[in-house]
Amino acid sequence: MKKQELSFKYTEITDLKELDEISIRLINKAKAASKNAWAPYSGFRVGAALLLENGEIITGNNQENAAFPSGLCAERTAIFYANSVFPDVPVKMLAVAAQQNDTFIKLAVAPCGSCRQVILETQNRFKNKITLMMYGEEKTIIVEDAAYLLPFPFEGF
Ligand code: THU
Repeated sequence: MKKQELSFKYTEITDLKELDEISIRLINKAKAASKNAWAPYSGFRVGAALLLENGEIITGNNQENAAFPSGLCAERTAIFYANSVFPDVPVKMLAVAAQQNDTFIKLAVAPCGSCRQVILETQNRFKNKITLMMYGEEKTIIVEDAAYLLPFPFEGF
């Protein structure tokens, strides 16, 4: 028997000006995308913006439904759309932002487990690390490898 340990480094940002231009652009696109969410049931409007290797930026937002499980998170809306239109182009970065009552949430919004699974499979599919930027008005968190967010993922059978 052997005890193992997992650890990883991430970046905390309180002032977005510390980021490079493309990261700021992506975060702003994610914020803008959250405004178009269809979230009448939760009131939690999430936006996602991803940068592809070819420079394209794809956005998405959560789409809810009266039949609750039929809805989809912002991250998967964006990533599935990107993969459907650009099936051969790796995803480089993904920014997520969320608002409630027209106010962006203070702490970084973290993707749910299902989104982590999908983000990680996209990373593995293109053998290209995806940088995740989880925006919060007071604190943004940046993780440079989607694998860090989902240890021991399901990888098929
Ligand atoms: N949601 C997202 O779109 N992304 C996340 O990372 C967390 C949750 C959505 C799903 C649902 O429409 C609403 O937020 C409340 O859970």
